[in-house]
Amino acid sequence: MLAPSTAPQRGLFISFEGIDGAGKSTHIPALEALLRGRGHSVTVTREPGGTPLAERLRELLLHEAMDPLSEAMLMFAARREHVLQVVQPALARGDVVLCDRFTDATFAYQGYGRGFNLEVLATLEQWVHGGLQPELTLWFDVPPAVAAARLAQARSPDKFEAESIGFFTRVAAGYAARLAADPRRFARIPADRTPAEVWVDVQAAVDALLQARQQASTPGQHGQ
Ligand code: TMP
Repeated sequence: MLAPSTAPQRGLFISFEGIDGAGKSTHIPALEALLRGRGHSVTVTREPGGTPLAERLRELLLHEAMDPLSEAMLMFAARREHVLQVVQPALARGDVVLCDRFTDATFAYQGYGRGFNLEVLATLEQWVHGGLQPELTLWFDVPPAVAAARLAQARSPDKFEAESIGFFTRVAAGYAARLAADPRRFARIPADRTPAEVWVDVQAAVDALLQARQQASTPGQHGQ
């Protein structure tokens, strides 16, 4: 059901995942600056959000209590707008898209965290973005107790940030299951370390992807 893209997707789609308090968001501007410095065009975006409508849905999702099915469907409604208006056009232009969360978050939070039916989520995933997946997902893996201590510093936690350690333990298990199902797409980054140490791993994972892409596009490298 995803509208066919008129141009081949030349860009690179990278998502950032982890439980709240994992520290992923501090690395996105740093990676953006690094890639721009190397001459890449970069689109930085986030979910839920990234378009005016999806940002309005984000406000509701982060602050209103609602039924788990409503929550899952609103996440996917926001995603549909975002994919069609931002992600696909940016990939067609050849941008590197740095996306703060994508569908793995729905499986982790609504599926494992809330206990919502995973098969229904897989069906919605197909409807909303077909075969489109990130080439690389950086999973910032931090023990829930460490994340909770970090979140305790936050001034006014949103609906998700206010959840229990038990909830985040289930969400983390959800990310582990997503990695187990698709290990080539994921880079697991232990995030209970200093930002400088984490940043080394972020750069290494992205460089490995860029090198693999470079080799695949270099004449004479195919099939070797
Ligand atoms: P953020 O705080 O990292 O911007 O993410 C917003 C919150 O939304 C975060 O607590 C995770 C949650 N979320 C879901 O529950 N499901 C989703 O599909 C997405 C994208 C985010």
